[in-house]
Amino acid sequence: QTKIAVVGGGSTYTPELIDGFARLRDTLPIGELVLVDPAAERLELVGGLARRIFAKQGHPATVTTTSDLDAGVAGADAVLLQLRVGGQAARQQDETWPLECGCIGQETTGAGGLAKALRTVPVVLDIAERVRRASPDAWIIDFTNPVGIVTRALLQAGHRAIGLCNVAIGFQRKFAALLGVAPGDVHLDHVGLNHLTWERGVRLGGPEGENVLPKLLAEHGDTIAGDLHLPRPLLDRLGTVPSYYLRYFYAHDAVVEEMWTKPSRAAEVAAMEKQLLEMYGDPALDEKPALLAKRGGAFYSEAAVDLAAALLGSGGSPYQVVNTYNNGTLPFLADDAVIEVQAAIGARGATPLPVPQLDPLCAGLVANVTAYEQLALEAALHGGRDRVFKALLAHPLIGQYAYAESLTDQLIAHNQEHLAWA
Ligand code: G6P
Ligand code: MN
Repeated sequence: QTKIAVVGGGSTYTPELIDGFARLRDTLPIGELVLVDPAAERLELVGGLARRIFAKQGHPATVTTTSDLDAGVAGADAVLLQLRVGGQAARQQDETWPLECGCIGQETTGAGGLAKALRTVPVVLDIAERVRRASPDAWIIDFTNPVGIVTRALLQAGHRAIGLCNVAIGFQRKFAALLGVAPGDVHLDHVGLNHLTWERGVRLGGPEGENVLPKLLAEHGDTIAGDLHLPRPLLDRLGTVPSYYLRYFYAHDAVVEEMWTKPSRAAEVAAMEKQLLEMYGDPALDEKPALLAKRGGAFYSEAAVDLAAALLGSGGSPYQVVNTYNNGTLPFLADDAVIEVQAAIGARGATPLPVPQLDPLCAGLVANVTAYEQLALEAALHGGRDRVFKALLAHPLIGQYAYAESLTDQLIAHNQEHLAWA
């Protein structure tokens, strides 16, 4: 009987996950699902809907809810981490104060991403330690952002952890639709760091399949560029498809200007969450509401099921895009850097597939952001104004002394309650 625990199970995202578990029950047959969350009220609403979704789809698994982490994860085969320390209110801060320095305000990129890392790493490490005590063989699948830094923290502490993001599966689904093939037939040559990746090839059938990316760009370049809000000529000249997070680099100043005029994403999401929770309370609702599709996490349930199934040996795709140790895959990075690439997934974890040499345009940014992530993790683990300052100075979107100084002050001022050392 496979038992899965979801930490942050009271998230409004959870019905998406439940829907995935129900639809993909042949890939990953689970017997018990435990939703763990300190927010008891939310947990009841989400848990109730989860049970109704399973009942409607005839899924036999039991769904339990608890605010007791140790009890919830005991005996779990896999533990999914999907939490947000400080909720949308903290995200709102991350998205606004960096703008005052003319820097991007985003929850995973730039100074906001550092703030999130500092709040999150200690909490996740504490949870992981308790998982290890309650369930030493459990796999930890981390969705919690910033996934690259959090995964590095987990691996460095010796946990059985893998980081996961939905960007790659989103491209896989999108390209499959454009090409008129099944998603499982599309293999991406996906390379970089979490939220800093490029698709360098789109292959049919598997890692050795024909590369149809040139054809895809020629025929659907405008659609793809439009979705990413990047200029088509940029994609043609790169010859790759960057993730939409590269927009914060390639169009930094334009995005900052946009951010000054638009409501923050945190505000939009908070409004959606309020509506979603009202819907979840309706005992007649027994499926995931359409409104959930407006969140950024499309297909995340499918990525999670696929990964858990491959780790637990019940099925799943042999190759998946995950966050794991570099171990020589990108020779210009240290072995203990965490990268996001295709990996062979099995009962012993993830082994990155070989990656052809990266051109300087991508390699430079990857090396730079890896250095930032290393310093960010130091700051998250050990605290201190100086460590925060150095991480900010190292970030390619910040880089200047005066900005790093003032962003350090802002970060600390806005996160007092979350930083034990501040
Ligand atoms: C994408 C990213 C996630 C991120 C999400 C934000 O899915 O891969 O890491 O959490 O977008 O979506 P939201 O709806 O919260 O803006
Ligand atoms: Mn992500």
